[in-house]
Amino acid sequence: MLPACDSSSGNPRAAHSYTERVSASPPVNGDRPVGAQGPSRKPVTIRTLRAMAARAEPFACLACYDATTARWMERAGVHVLLSGDSAAEVILGQPRTIHMPMEVSVALTAALKRGAPSAFVIADMPFMSYQASDAEAIRNAGRFMTEGLADAVKLEIDRSQTRLVRKLTRAGIPVCAHVGSLPQRAALRGGYGSTVRTREDAADVVQDAIEMERAGAVLLLIEAAPDDVAHEIVQRTKVPLIGIGAGPACHGQILVFHDLVGLSDHAPRFAEPVDALGDRLLEAGREWVTRVAERRIGGRGYEFEPEKPATIRTQGAESDEERAVRHRRGARAASER
Ligand code: KIV
Repeated sequence: MLPACDSSSGNPRAAHSYTERVSASPPVNGDRPVGAQGPSRKPVTIRTLRAMAARAEPFACLACYDATTARWMERAGVHVLLSGDSAAEVILGQPRTIHMPMEVSVALTAALKRGAPSAFVIADMPFMSYQASDAEAIRNAGRFMTEGLADAVKLEIDRSQTRLVRKLTRAGIPVCAHVGSLPQRAALRGGYGSTVRTREDAADVVQDAIEMERAGAVLLLIEAAPDDVAHEIVQRTKVPLIGIGAGPACHGQILVFHDLVGLSDHAPRFAEPVDALGDRLLEAGREWVTRVAERRIGGRGYEFEPEKPATIRTQGAESDEERAVRHRRGARAASER
């Protein structure tokens, strides 16, 4: 039996509102293990993640949204990158994740793979890209796999949707089933927040996870739940479990990149920043404003090519080459006379 959940577990996604945010390497050789620095590590596949989970070796995941950040995170050894629908808030400045456009999401997913070809890239299926009908869901998921270069697609889902997971799996599309607190359903509750607050909620989420695995999901992701819920899922399923605000029992851990590096004004309570890049960006921006004001723009400027006296011509004047051609023609004409 799962213990009662801490009802003060907070509102992990509330801080993702754009009004509360500030906004938004070294190379290696082929035989390095996954997780080593550099772009030439072996590609992370679902087999890699399964093997790491079996060895109880945690893997690192991040939601990020552009090729440059992906490139640096690959060099850092991050195993999994998610083109999260949190991009709606972090990148597009929208108030909710449900505002993520399908087209933008496909483009951002492909950008992650181009930036970090060895990372396992998960596409987060946007609100209304999979709810209306199974056929539409399969077509959209297929686009993420082909145009978006994704390795798997993530759906916020519960066990009432096992049929869709089966169909996606049968179509050859690896599914990451996101259970627990589901931000795309926040409107039902009047806002973001953990929905795993009672013993019944917890048992429900564990059952969702079990049925998603049965339906074919190759990965599970649990958001904003007490540690024991993730622990129970790990005990009762075999697929790797990624957690966000769900405690250390999960096989993989994920955060939003901007929360991790200190770019968010109010990161969720479970996201402990490792840096304060916001402050550093502020300094950099201020330095640029000062330099421009003082006409100290730095860098190396361009110069005109030094002009060679022999090549200087006034308009209409004959060049050296033209003169040489005229002389050759004259000499030929004289010899023919
Ligand atoms: O969109 C997102 O960032 C997510 C989290 C699970 C990281 O879905």
